Amino acid sequence: MLIFVDEEKKQFHLTNGKISYLFYVMRNGHLGSLYFGKAIDIHSDFSQLQNDHSPTTYTSYFFGDRSYSLETLRQEYPIFGTSDYREPALSIRQLDGSHITNFIYKYYSITKGKPLLHGLPATYTENEEDAETIQIVLEDSLLNAELVLCYTIFKDLSAITRSAYICNQGSQPFYLERFMSAAIDLPDHDFIMLQLSGAWARERHIKERPLEMGTQSISSIRGSSSHQHNPFIALRRKETTECHGEVYSFNFVYSSNFIAQAEVDQFDTTRITIGIHPFRFTWKLSENEHFQSPEVVMVYSEEGLNGMSQTYHDLYRNHLIRGKWKNADRPVLINNWEATYFNFDEKTLIEIAKEAKDLGIELFVLDDGWFGKRNNALTSLGDWYSNTDKFPYGINHFANQIHELGLKFGLWFEPEMVSPISNLFKEHPDWIISTPNRPVSLGRNQLVLDFSREEIVVEIYNRMAKIIKNTNLDYIKWDMNRYITEAYSNELANDQQDEFYHRYILGVYDLYERLIQQFPNVLFESCAGGGGRFDPGLLYFAPQAWASDNTDPIERIKIQYGTSLPYPISSIGSHVSASPNHQTRRSTPLSIRANVAFFGTFGYELNPFKLNEEEKLEIKSQIQFYKKHQSLIRNGDFYRLLNPFKGNEAAWMIVSKDKSESIIGWYKVLATPNPKKFQTLKLTGLDPHRKYLQSGSNHTFFGNELMFNGIPLPPEYNGPNKKIAKRAGDFQSQIFYLVSIK
Ligand code: GLA
Repeated sequence: MLIFVDEEKKQFHLTNGKISYLFYVMRNGHLGSLYFGKAIDIHSDFSQLQNDHSPTTYTSYFFGDRSYSLETLRQEYPIFGTSDYREPALSIRQLDGSHITNFIYKYYSITKGKPLLHGLPATYTENEEDAETIQIVLEDSLLNAELVLCYTIFKDLSAITRSAYICNQGSQPFYLERFMSAAIDLPDHDFIMLQLSGAWARERHIKERPLEMGTQSISSIRGSSSHQHNPFIALRRKETTECHGEVYSFNFVYSSNFIAQAEVDQFDTTRITIGIHPFRFTWKLSENEHFQSPEVVMVYSEEGLNGMSQTYHDLYRNHLIRGKWKNADRPVLINNWEATYFNFDEKTLIEIAKEAKDLGIELFVLDDGWFGKRNNALTSLGDWYSNTDKFPYGINHFANQIHELGLKFGLWFEPEMVSPISNLFKEHPDWIISTPNRPVSLGRNQLVLDFSREEIVVEIYNRMAKIIKNTNLDYIKWDMNRYITEAYSNELANDQQDEFYHRYILGVYDLYERLIQQFPNVLFESCAGGGGRFDPGLLYFAPQAWASDNTDPIERIKIQYGTSLPYPISSIGSHVSASPNHQTRRSTPLSIRANVAFFGTFGYELNPFKLNEEEKLEIKSQIQFYKKHQSLIRNGDFYRLLNPFKGNEAAWMIVSKDKSESIIGWYKVLATPNPKKFQTLKLTGLDPHRKYLQSGSNHTFFGNELMFNGIPLPPEYNGPNKKIAKRAGDFQSQIFYLVSIK
C-alpha cells in the first residue's frame, strides 16, 4: 500500500518509504499542502503540520470568515480572487465575465497502477503493483464543474506525478484561462533555483539563482518546449552538491508552451506552479466537455542532484519510454548530414555506407535532401517522395542497397513543415499556420503546417507511411526546424483561437502515435534544430533525441552534463564529428570526441573517406568499445562528478545496478603548465568493499579507495617527463573501465 487516508481528518499521505507527500482538505473545502520530502512515518493525524494560524494583519478573509485567509495558507491547487494574491493554478472566465470559482472537496478514489492520459504523453505502469494513484474530486456547484486532481506515487522511486482534469457538467460554456498541471506551496524559500537554458547549439546549460521574494520563472511561448528553456526546474539547498543534500524538482511532460515558476511571498513561502503557459491559452469548455492537463513529474532527493537524476532516469527508462527499443541495444549509426550536407548522390552515399559498414557501424541515416527537389533549404518540405535527381531509381532502390550491405536504414523527415516552393504548398496553400490578412513570417525558409487539423495530420501520415513501408525503414529522425509564428487556425471558431498551440501539439502527438502503432519496429529519434524540443513529452514517443546540432566535444560536455539532470543517458543522441568542428571551428583529438559521445546514443556524423588509416583503426576500436559497454551505459546509474560550468575539468561515471562494473569519463579543457603531480579523480556509487580491476592495466583497488582517495590520473606533460607523460596539450580525456573481481 502506498496511499494512506485519514477519513476523519481528510488527510492523504502518499509514501513509499523513501518520500512522503501529504495534503488535506482545508476547512473551506479546498486542498492544502502539508508536506513533501523524505519519508515520514504513517500515523493517524497530521494536523500539527497544518500550521494554520491564519489570518495575519492586513490580509483578506475568505468569504467573510474572519479567522480564515487563503493568503496565509499552503495550498495544493490555489485560486485567485478570494483571499489569496499569489499567482493561482486555475483561472476560469465565466459567461458573465466573472472569474471567481470555489471548488470544494467531494470524494477521492484510489486505484492501483496509473491511468493513461488520453492523447497526452505520460509516465505509465506495465505492472499495476508498481504505483498507486489517488484522484481527488472537487466540485464548484455554481459553475457546475468537476475538477479532478490526480497524484501517482511509484513503488521504488522518489517521484510523484500530478495532473489535473476538469469537466463542465452544466449547460453554459466557460473558458479555462489558466490551468496548471501542478502547484505546491513549500514552507520556506531557502533555495537556489536551477534551470536548463541556452540557445541553438548551446542547449540546456545549467543556470542558477537564489530565490528571492517575487516571481522567478522560465517559459516558452514558441510553440515548442524550446532551445532557450527546458521544461525543468530544480530547487536545491545552498549546501546541496551533486552527491549530498536536498533537491525538489519539477519536469513537465509536454512539448509546447509552458511556464515553470517559483513565487516567494511575504511569509517566505515558495509557491511552485507548472503547466501550459497561460499566455495565448484559453480553452472553451461547453456542456459535457472536459480538459486534461499534461503531467508534471516531481522528484525529491536528499542525495543531491545525482540522486534526483537517478530517479528521473529510472522513471523515464522504465515508465515513460515505450516500445521495442525501450530495453534494446541501439544501433551505432552514421548520419550523412555533416559529411555531405545537401550535396550528395546515390553513388557517394553507397560508398560512405560501405566504408561505415567496414568500421562496424550498424545503421545508415540519410539526413535532409533525399525528397522532392530538395537540394538546399529553400524547397520541398512536405513532398515526401524520392528526389529523382539524386535517386534516379527511387529511394526504395537505395534502401534495398543499404539493407543488402547488412546495414539498417534510416531517413530524416520534418513532418510538421512545408516549403513555400513545394507541391504540397501548391496543392494546399491554406494548410499553413497564418493569420488572416497578415503577412506570414518564415523561419529557415519554411512554413508550419496546421497540425491542429486532423486531415493534415492524416495526409502527412499517409505520405510518411508509404515511404516507411516501401523502404522497410528502420529509423526516423523527426526534425522540427522553426518555431510557430502568426498562430491561428482556419478551422477554429473565433473564441477558440487560443486553443491553437495546445491543439497543434496534440496533432504532433497524434502523428507520432499513428506511426508508432503502425510501425512498432521503427526507432524514432526526435530533433528540433538540434535540441529545441528535448522534453519528456517526446521521449514517450521517441526513445532518443538529438541533443544539439553542436557536435564539438568541448561544448557537448556542457550540453550533455546539463541534459543528464533529468534525462537518461540512453536518450541523449551524441555523435563523433569531423575536426575542425563545423559549429565552432575548434580542432580536437578524435579520442575526446568519442570519449564524450560514448555517454549517449553513439554514432558518427562525418565522411569516412576523409579519415586516414590510423583514424579508421581508432574508430573501429571506439565502436567495439561502445558495443561492448552499451548495456551498462544505457541501464546503469549515472553520476556527475566534476562540473564543466565550474572549472576546467569535467567528469561523470556510470555504475551498473549490481555495482560490478563502471565506466568513467574524465575531461580537461585546457592544459596546465607545470601541472599537479598527484592528481586523482574521486569516484562514487561503487561497492566500498569490492575489489575492482582497472581495465587496460593490472591495477586493482577497493571501492572505498576509489571513492575516498580517487583513481589516479595518468601523468600530464610537464616538460622533463615527456617520455612518460600520457596527457599533453589541450582537450585531454580519459575513459576508465572498472570491473569487480574476487
Ligand atoms: C537540423 C538538424 C540537423 C540536420 C538539419 C538538416 O538543423 O538539427 O541535424 O538534420 O536540420 O536540415
